[in-house]
Amino acid sequence: MSQTSRHILITGGAGFIGSHLAEQLLLRGDHVTVVDDLSTGDLANVQQAKSMFPGRVEFVHSTVSAAFQLTQWPRFAEIYHLAAAVGVRLIVQKPSQSIETNVLETSAAIRWAIRDDAKLLVASSSEVYGKGIRVPFAESDDVVFGPTTSSRWSYGYSKALDEFLTFAAVKESGLKAVIIRFFNTVGPRQKGEWGMVLPRFIQAALVGDALEVHGDGSQLRCFCDVRDVAPALIQLLADQKCCGRVFNIGSDQMISIQSLAQRVIGVTGSSSRIVNVTHEQIFGKGFEDLQVRQPNLERVRGAIGFMPQIALDTTIADIALLLGKARKPCKGERAA
Ligand SMILES: NC(=O)c1ccc[n+]([C@@H]2O[C@H](COP(=O)([O-])OP(=O)(O)OC[C@H]3O[C@@H](n4cnc5c(N)ncnc54)[C@H](O)[C@@H]3O)[C@@H](O)[C@H]2O)c1
Repeated sequence: MSQTSRHILITGGAGFIGSHLAEQLLLRGDHVTVVDDLSTGDLANVQQAKSMFPGRVEFVHSTVSAAFQLTQWPRFAEIYHLAAAVGVRLIVQKPSQSIETNVLETSAAIRWAIRDDAKLLVASSSEVYGKGIRVPFAESDDVVFGPTTSSRWSYGYSKALDEFLTFAAVKESGLKAVIIRFFNTVGPRQKGEWGMVLPRFIQAALVGDALEVHGDGSQLRCFCDVRDVAPALIQLLADQKCCGRVFNIGSDQMISIQSLAQRVIGVTGSSSRIVNVTHEQIFGKGFEDLQVRQPNLERVRGAIGFMPQIALDTTIADIALLLGKARKPCKGERAA
């Protein structure tokens, strides 16, 4: 191992964003250790990185807090903490486990960074904006959450608590940390099974199933390709001026969910139809969805000149290509 190569830890590195980030760090010449409990991640993502960069990737199948207790770690120069129970659907289904994961595992990641004197990147979420009282959402905005009787809001609350914990460690222990509020990040390897809208639509379109739009589809969202996002994470953590700050990251180009479904059908050439189902049918009674979710990107543009490059149609086509290769052929269809 070269004297100059650095050890980087990615928690949740077998997941969607984490695996793209790992590849970027490996291209930079680093050694990458992935700690992941594979609850939503995929070992194949790590194996792919291992085969591309032999001898520079280590995988530890564990939660963050359990791994932190182990000894014989190298000293990590940077820790990217992405491990979390991701998304509102998961948290509605398994509220206690999800809240505990998001808060306790972040606490472990912070203690790990302090122990190693490592720089820490913490993955937060646009859900921290709660009901989003002003559009576009800026990092310094006030926030309003729904009541604690609705578990839907606990994802945002848990990520907000992660941010508070991080800022507390910055103040009390001199931790060098950056917090990222991800808006809808999409791209190859994202899974639809946890409710993420774009892979869910593409999976359905590829097999001719109906694309299920929650609500009337007029909700506006912004989608940014992970291949634009991952390099920006590395830049933000490397920049001294970004330490102790929180950044939105994503695209600010809005599209309605109904139009997104139509775009997917268009790009994939599918004959699928679109059906609208109520939020109540999916998430149960009293579920509230946001009408608009758009980031203000001034801060991240000012810091690193962040400018997403990959068009949504390209992202859709690339995901479709990957999912098309992975799926089993339908009856009467030849395997690719
Ligand atoms: N993708 C998005 O649009 C989006 C939006 C907002 C926030 N985020 C945040 O970005 C981060 C990465 O999300 P993603 O989209 O790549 O999701 P993902 O589910 O693909 O990745 C999360 C990874 O964390 C792992 N994990 C979960 N609990 C763990 C634990 N206790 N210990 C170790 N590993 C654990 C999972 O197995 C998975 O590999 C998360 O913190 C998420 O909250 C993502």
